[in-house]
Amino acid sequence: MIEASAHHEAPEKSRPTRRRDPRFFILNSQFSILLLVLSACSGPPPAEAPAPAPQAPITGTQLEGYVRTYELAGPLVPASTTMASAWDIPANPLTDEALGESPDADLVRRGFRLFTETPDEAPRLTHNRLTCNNCHLNAGQRELSLPLVGVDAMFPEYNRRAGREFTLEDRIIGCFLRSENATAGSDTPDARTPEVVALAAYLRWLSRGHAKGENPSWRKRNRIADDKLIPVDQLDPVKGEAIYREKCQSCHGLDGQGVQIGDKRAGPLWGPDSWNDGAGAARTYTLAGIIRYAMPYLAPGSLTDEEAQHVAAFITSKPRPVYPFKDQDYRTEPVPPDAVYYKR
Ligand code: HEC
Ligand code: HEC
Repeated sequence: MIEASAHHEAPEKSRPTRRRDPRFFILNSQFSILLLVLSACSGPPPAEAPAPAPQAPITGTQLEGYVRTYELAGPLVPASTTMASAWDIPANPLTDEALGESPDADLVRRGFRLFTETPDEAPRLTHNRLTCNNCHLNAGQRELSLPLVGVDAMFPEYNRRAGREFTLEDRIIGCFLRSENATAGSDTPDARTPEVVALAAYLRWLSRGHAKGENPSWRKRNRIADDKLIPVDQLDPVKGEAIYREKCQSCHGLDGQGVQIGDKRAGPLWGPDSWNDGAGAARTYTLAGIIRYAMPYLAPGSLTDEEAQHVAAFITSKPRPVYPFKDQDYRTEPVPPDAVYYKR
């Protein structure tokens, strides 16, 4: 059992963070060499893999002397930065001094660690190898990467898949059940589950100062524009596979299971360790919208709308864990055309 109550946890402020690990420096300075090695082991080298931008990999707030070499986009790490900024966390509860004063400080820190190390921190609810951070990059603080800063202001909100109002907790539970494949285990999270409570505390902390009902301008922008959507039956997984080999395989592997890079691991894109077939990322257009702006991680934004959709069609043509309650989804709204694992 995982204990998430703030009162039972020792203060964690002094606990060393992963970001102090010297491997980060190795990663940054030797990233291109590393990539060459990776691609040598796992297939054809990425033909024109761009050299990583000369950015420090870690956040300005964590290490003395570190200076961020780019402007933040509002509160977010800009979408134009590469994997070299993967450890930049603009608002980090482990180092934020103002947070120390607040009564739920330990809960917020616990939520942050759950978010960034989900399989280790929430093993009973995580039945794959994905952290929340795998999809919500920079701990939910990266532009065009499903950012979660300020989103609590929009909850409760109508959820089309469920056909009812969703609280923030409902949304987190949904990501556990589907993106983290919790349904493969025997524990079912609810709004009082300690892991859900702690994650909600972290996300509410990310929304401090955001007025209720005010839609953050960066929210839900990981979308392919309607007039650029290609009908699902015209998407070509074979074309998608060719794009995958050239632009994704060096980090995600020939088998799609992800390669370790420093202490980051590109996630499994299909198979038993990936998100299940009821997840948002199992919808072809939703996945294309993530990939289009966040990947490939050394040149995010470099794919066309069309390429992102073909590669997403390749990934959603693969087997993945089955979400057992798909028949209870879309009972009041039609099944969207890109929900390709659903019967219609
Ligand atoms: C496999 C990818 C993936 C993983 C892993 C994942 N999510 Fe998500 N998450 C999504 C997608 C896709 C959406 C929908 C975004 C949209 O509607 O534009 C989403 C939406 C959300 C939202 C609602 C955002 C909003 O603006 O309304 C929250 C909150 C959230 N996720 C939290 C989490 C938490 C907490 C975890 C870990 C327990 C997690 N997610 C893991 C893909 C993922
Ligand atoms: C330079 C390495 C690299 C390349 C190239 C790359 N990725 Fe990633 N990708 C990552 C890393 C690392 C993460 C996890 C980020 C994190 O946890 O901070 C990730 C995350 C993802 C995710 C979120 C879910 C998961 O399984 O981690 C998707 C989807 C994804 N990548 C798809 C792609 C696609 C498609 C391509 C090719 C167009 C691609 N990536 C190219 C490194 C890469």
